[in-house]
Amino acid sequence: MLTLSAGRNLTIAAALCGLASAQADGPALGADRIFQADIENGSMTVDEIRAEGLRIFCTPFNHLDGYGDGAMDPLDPISPGGRPTLQGNGTFLRVNGLDSQSCLECHGIGSAATIPATFGIGGVGPSSTNVIFQPRRIDVIDAAGQGMAGFNGRFINPPFLFGSGGLELLALEMTAALQQGPRAAFASPDSDIPLVTHGVSFGSLRFDSASGAFDYSSLEGIPEDLVVRPFGRKGSFQTVRGFDVEAMRFHFGIEPTELVGPGVDSDGDGVSDELLAGEISAMHIFGATLERPEVRDWTPEADQGLDVFGAIGCAVCHIPTLTTRSRALPFRFPEVETAPQLNQFLRVDLTQSAAGFDPAPGGGLEVPLFSDLKLHDMGPGLAEAFGNPDDALYITARLWGVADTAPYLHDGRATTLTDAILLHGGEAQGARDAFAALPSAQKVEVLTFLKRLRTPLDPAGDLLP
Ligand code: HEC
Ligand code: HEC
Repeated sequence: MLTLSAGRNLTIAAALCGLASAQADGPALGADRIFQADIENGSMTVDEIRAEGLRIFCTPFNHLDGYGDGAMDPLDPISPGGRPTLQGNGTFLRVNGLDSQSCLECHGIGSAATIPATFGIGGVGPSSTNVIFQPRRIDVIDAAGQGMAGFNGRFINPPFLFGSGGLELLALEMTAALQQGPRAAFASPDSDIPLVTHGVSFGSLRFDSASGAFDYSSLEGIPEDLVVRPFGRKGSFQTVRGFDVEAMRFHFGIEPTELVGPGVDSDGDGVSDELLAGEISAMHIFGATLERPEVRDWTPEADQGLDVFGAIGCAVCHIPTLTTRSRALPFRFPEVETAPQLNQFLRVDLTQSAAGFDPAPGGGLEVPLFSDLKLHDMGPGLAEAFGNPDDALYITARLWGVADTAPYLHDGRATTLTDAILLHGGEAQGARDAFAALPSAQKVEVLTFLKRLRTPLDPAGDLLP
């Protein structure tokens, strides 16, 4: 139940009930802005902050909010707004952003397994909402003569945000532990220092005394800065905040002040202070307290499927549960990726909040994510085509909720779970082949197990009128 102060209560209720102003056009975000101080000085409860985050997440931004980029300079196609594509029609070209007006448009399906699909704030998007990022060639007439149309660039299907808080807490704790690695390696030169935390091995690190430099060649699934980044299918961001800031700029041309500076109109559209730090904090706190996915309707056959899943090597990457050391997720501003302890302004217990994680013995919580939060080479079939060494690298997809989130894989190319499994290659080739070789009864057991991994039934339901 929400307990709100009178002024905000009205704003939130009006926004959530769709009672938009019947008068002149104005910014969709409204005039009642949220400052970081409002959040840090304790004048808003966590649920009030979450409700504001929900409102911003669902707001369809317009030109008066600073939607889009300013007039373009034909001599400099990358300015304004930093897009390497001219947004000639001003809005909605969909390539390289300006592809929507609200976060909800792409993150609004709670379950795609029901007919009709079930609405769910923070959920997945269908393939029609895929993000089209830096395509180099869209060859619809088959000029390349491959016998089919071709596409060259990133094409990414929107995942859900459910359970993000648990992922973020894991990422912060794991990063803090891994950051000790270089000091340990420096103290014991010329020996391999294992990088293991929370039961996950990230390979090892060595300090080479002859060259006076670290040897990163034995790292596994993590970049050299030893920061765990769960968010984005290629592991791009450590926190929901990091993602939200870029999402605002990329999808809408809404520039958060923490990106461009207060009072700065970097995209030249005549509006500055398009989104304040307090507003991004509200979105972050909303996103990181969204309900976690859950297991429903477990059966003995599902149990057998889980065993087979382990026996054929799926669980090497899709680790069923990781356990955190603490239960409270710290929110920081500004965030320093390599030093998660800095600049914390709020902590939220994820077992007590809407997130609903189960406490683990020993003071932490259980995150039943089915992932190792590591990057893996998935082979040429799933690789993107930028000519970069990381083209085939993806962070192990979390399988929690997978029953409800078709289509599958980073671009939604797999319309069934079986297709998603059979398209695994690279480091997952062995497990994929073992699955393909299973008798059909055991394949069905694996699918039965996967279909028990469900999204939350009523995400953010406690915030809705
Ligand atoms: C046009 C569709 C689209 C819109 C609009 C959109 N997103 Fe996303 N979102 C995506 C896609 C695609 C990804 C995966 C990106 C990647 O893999 O790098 C994603 C990923 C995310 C993630 C990381 C989830 C994870 O588990 O990896 C967060 C957080 C997120 N979006 C928040 C937002 C917010 C906040 C907004 C509004 C400012 C927003 N998104 C608007 C398509 C969209
Ligand atoms: C080497 C690590 C690795 C192994 C082993 C592995 N996977 Fe995956 N799995 C991934 C990665 C990475 C992705 C995401 C690939 C992409 O998006 O293109 C993924 C994606 C998936 C998906 C699609 C999830 C979604 O939401 O799109 C399913 C289902 C899946 N794996 C099941 C399995 C099963 C079943 C096995 C065993 C036969 C298995 N995986 C073995 C790394 C692995």
